[in-house]
Amino acid sequence: MREQFAAPFQGKSLLNWIDYTPEEINVFLDLAFQVKAEAGRGETHTRFAGKTLALIFEKRSTRTRCAFETAFGEEGGHPVFLSTQDIQLGGKESVEDTARVLGRMFSAIQFRGFSQKHAELLARYSGVPVYNGLTDSFHPTQALADVMTLKETCGTLKGLHLAFAGDGRNNVARSLMLICAKLGVSFTVICPEALSPDAEIRAICAPFAKASGSRITVTDDIAQVKGADALYTDVWASMGEEAIKAERVKLLRPYQVNEDLLAKTGNDWCIFLHCLPAVKGEEVTFGVIEGNASRVWDQAENRKHTIKAIMLATI
Ligand code: CP
Ligand code: NVA
Repeated sequence: MREQFAAPFQGKSLLNWIDYTPEEINVFLDLAFQVKAEAGRGETHTRFAGKTLALIFEKRSTRTRCAFETAFGEEGGHPVFLSTQDIQLGGKESVEDTARVLGRMFSAIQFRGFSQKHAELLARYSGVPVYNGLTDSFHPTQALADVMTLKETCGTLKGLHLAFAGDGRNNVARSLMLICAKLGVSFTVICPEALSPDAEIRAICAPFAKASGSRITVTDDIAQVKGADALYTDVWASMGEEAIKAERVKLLRPYQVNEDLLAKTGNDWCIFLHCLPAVKGEEVTFGVIEGNASRVWDQAENRKHTIKAIMLATI
């Protein structure tokens, strides 16, 4: 028999965290901790029985694809993987038309691609929940796993200080800025000026940070890492930026997360986070990612629990 589950945000998409209140984000987090505990007890459920999920991938993925497929499939749902080799998306068929067709056949859609606009169009035209599994602009499901990992390590979120060193303009840094601003986590982006988060995302985050008590700082001074409870980095060249990799390496070399930078936090409890995949020896040293401070494997596991929570809450 199908289990009954009250989905608190039934029908709602997750394109970024702008449209969710801190209380709503905490509902997702509570649900993620609940499903993680269920998994730990070896419980099985069939809360997606009879449901279908379209997984559109224009870019490669290990964690996001596997998290969506396993979280949905093990609860009795049927996920269908669609790469750009398989479907017409914005090529022979418009995004709007693709959305309308998929919306007639699927309970929800995950989209990983380049354009945030395409994620928005899918949500507008499909009539079913659409999850942004990474675009050039945002990576919201990653940010939820990141704050879950912070919370399970530190016991709380409000008042914590997360520092991000690296490409401050990218999807991961932008999503972290948003979720930290919403949840009262102070967020410092340490990056060269040329790679600072743009004015638009900073303006979007400012009122949320004011309301939550989060302090958002953008600086090129690595000494500002002082006091951080967690240190985060991401690849220096994101998917689609391979051609400018050499330029990025030059710009970002001084912002590598290494043992020295970790020590500069002044906190021996400071943890290291990375969305993965990592290029060891570039944005992070082997010693840090493989060392005692690293929580990257918990963080990767939490992708699955948070993604399951997002789908349970919205489908
Ligand atoms: N962190 C993350 O999104 O990993 P994948 O690219 O492997 O999905
Ligand atoms: N910023 C990276 C994140 C990968 C999960 C990228 O977009 O490639």
